[in-house]
Amino acid sequence: MKLFVCWVLTYVVCLAVVKKMWSGRYMRSHLSRSLYMNMLSHNQAPYWEGSHQLLNMDSLSSHFIEVPQFLWYLCDTEKLSDDLQTIFVQSYLDHGTQTFLNRSIEKSGWLSIQLYHSFMSSVFSMFMSRTSINGLLGRGSMFVFSPEQFQRLLKIGPDWKSHRLLDLGAGDGEVTKVMSPHFEEIYVTEMSQTMIWQLQKKKYRVLNIDEWQRTGFQYDVISCLNLLDRCHQPVTLLKEMRSVLEPTRGRVVLALVLPFHPYVENGGKWEKPAEVMDVNGTVWEEQVNSLAAVFQDAGFVVEAFTRLPYLCEGDMYNDYYVLDDAVFVLRPV
Ligand SMILES: C[S@@+](CC[C@H](N)C(=O)[O-])C[C@H]1O[C@@H](n2cnc3c(N)ncnc32)[C@H](O)[C@@H]1O
Ligand SMILES: *[C@@H]1O[C@H](CO)[C@@H](O)[C@H](O)[C@H]1NC(C)=O
Ligand SMILES: *[C@@H]1O[C@H](CO)[C@@H](O)[C@H](O)[C@H]1NC(C)=O
Repeated sequence: MKLFVCWVLTYVVCLAVVKKMWSGRYMRSHLSRSLYMNMLSHNQAPYWEGSHQLLNMDSLSSHFIEVPQFLWYLCDTEKLSDDLQTIFVQSYLDHGTQTFLNRSIEKSGWLSIQLYHSFMSSVFSMFMSRTSINGLLGRGSMFVFSPEQFQRLLKIGPDWKSHRLLDLGAGDGEVTKVMSPHFEEIYVTEMSQTMIWQLQKKKYRVLNIDEWQRTGFQYDVISCLNLLDRCHQPVTLLKEMRSVLEPTRGRVVLALVLPFHPYVENGGKWEKPAEVMDVNGTVWEEQVNSLAAVFQDAGFVVEAFTRLPYLCEGDMYNDYYVLDDAVFVLRPV
């Protein structure tokens, strides 16, 4: 028992020292990046952990170069195919996004809670996936779009209402919450049991991952946000979405992290998916071009799309995390 208390105390002191060094910007220099990355591999959002284990350091470090915020939204439309150039929607860092960032910065500064999270994750990580730990601790919420950004993308007003929303891979439901005011019935799916608890707490109707295809319902909007690169059968999933979408007015809202690195989290381990999605090109715009072809093969045409930062709440070491999202509105053909 004494030994355990000693261990906990040492751990807390070490983390406190690290936090102090960090907030003193001691480690933001490029020289210290390797040390910083080593720590990140233990305390971070699910996406980063997967990348850390499966990508080489060179391609990873490109994610770490701090990108000025205005670049989060920029698209070089000249690199887009002709069909896509006219339907690009320009987004901005709006009030809703700034509120999330402010809140995240504030939370990552609460030392005692961050220490508690950090300690609990290192214990649970022995037998649980990062996603499930976040679900259990209720931390690491994500942000894709503000209500205004969602409405602009779908070309709807704040009072627009529809019947059924299906949010696939809804995580803790924080992103679902942005879309939910527009729908009477909200269905969600999740793989992780702790995330399912979070979703039930928010009163969403949780469907099994092999059940939503066969309920006999048609959905007015299906959202599939940051899921295609984290599931085993993305091509099948696209076709299944097409088959349960309302065939004329129905729309799919689909977000994907680029550059495209598909890996599936399986009980703390990371695997290659069973199905390969045909995404090529190196820069954001090129990958978007090739995605349009993938969607077409599944029976969709891109109606609008935008570039947004995919934000995740921070931890001891970072105020927040940012990934590069492409968000599409797909219409069935
Ligand atoms: C990166 S998170 C995205 C969460 C949320 N949609 C967002 O955009 O922030 C991906 C989620 O999909 C879940 N997931 C993975 N495979 C799934 C599947 N086949 N069906 C439903 N959910 C799945 C994971 O448990 C994880 O919570
Ligand atoms: C975010 O924080 C900054 C600096 O503290 C403040 O100026 C700004 O008004 C805040 N914005 C929102 C939307 O809360
Ligand atoms: C990507 O794939 C498409 C068709 O699958 C092909 O036309 C195009 O040349 C490819 N681009 C690159 C950069 O490989």
